[in-house]
Amino acid sequence: MTVPEIEEIGRKAKEEIAGAENLLLLNDLRIKYLGRKGILTGILRGLKDLPEGERRNVGRIANLLKEEILALLKEREATLSSQKPVLPEIDLTLPGRRLWIGRRHPISQVLDEICEIFVGMGFKEEIGPEIEDEWHNFSALNIPEDHPARDMFSSFYLDSGKLLRSHTSPVQIRVMERERPPIRIIAPGRVFRPDDFDASHAPNFHQVEGLYVDEGVTFADLKGTLREFCQKMFGQGIKMRFLPSYFPFTEPSAEVAISCVNCYGSGCQTCKGTGWLEILGCGMVHPQVLRNCAIDPERYTGYAFGLGVERVAMIKYRIPDMRLFYENDLRFLEEF
Ligand code: PHE
Repeated sequence: MTVPEIEEIGRKAKEEIAGAENLLLLNDLRIKYLGRKGILTGILRGLKDLPEGERRNVGRIANLLKEEILALLKEREATLSSQKPVLPEIDLTLPGRRLWIGRRHPISQVLDEICEIFVGMGFKEEIGPEIEDEWHNFSALNIPEDHPARDMFSSFYLDSGKLLRSHTSPVQIRVMERERPPIRIIAPGRVFRPDDFDASHAPNFHQVEGLYVDEGVTFADLKGTLREFCQKMFGQGIKMRFLPSYFPFTEPSAEVAISCVNCYGSGCQTCKGTGWLEILGCGMVHPQVLRNCAIDPERYTGYAFGLGVERVAMIKYRIPDMRLFYENDLRFLEEF
């Protein structure tokens, strides 16, 4: 190592130290020149290998440079420390970025909750097709063609002559055609009717069908099961009312209402002053329906019910308008 070479290293070091932009970079330079494996450290360590004549001079120059670099590092460090740190270019006043967390639709949540209660009572879940034929949607359910009852379940027809099911009751038929009693199923799903949207109607909505067929099934069994369901769903204090009704596929038929969750029966807007909210239709499976599925009505009896899921959700969460479920307004959906 010659004196001019050392002087060259010195120039470079001074330049780099002056240009170091922060303390981290400055420390890198300290290591580069004066560290254990640093350039200058190497030169000083190599002195002993130089010829006697050169050693003194080179040693002096190198030691001077070392002192100089130390002083420069110290000076630069003081300068950098007193400077304000340079902040990355972010605008701290910008609102934070929001993480959107998805969740299940309230109707799906309520549907699951309903099914869970019935599964807990021993019902098995069955799924039927949304596109049905007239046999399963009507005829097998004791709704003959030209019978005015078809109007109760007016439907969307497809070109093929099939239709979008207007209730989940056709799943009763599909199961009874295939299985022998004891049969105990629920069938959740989407149903379709050509109704306009309003506060309590939509062209498609959801039902949970229930069916229990066995020897000796009675209306009392139906009442007990539905009571258990309503208490689990709406609370122990809930009151129920069974009113005689008509469905072609059940005899006798009933519609079930619960005491208004809003006014507890004294009458308000939600229950239109009646104190009751209707939630489902039910009855004892009509003997002709059993016969249509080759089940002997002399031996077997059964009950069936059809529950409106939107209805239940509206009552449970005090939703005044069914359309809220379908508008996909996040301010609404995020409440669930
Ligand atoms: N399917 C009927 C409806 O959609 C409800 C129902 C089901 C009634 C089962 C009695 C028995 O309104």
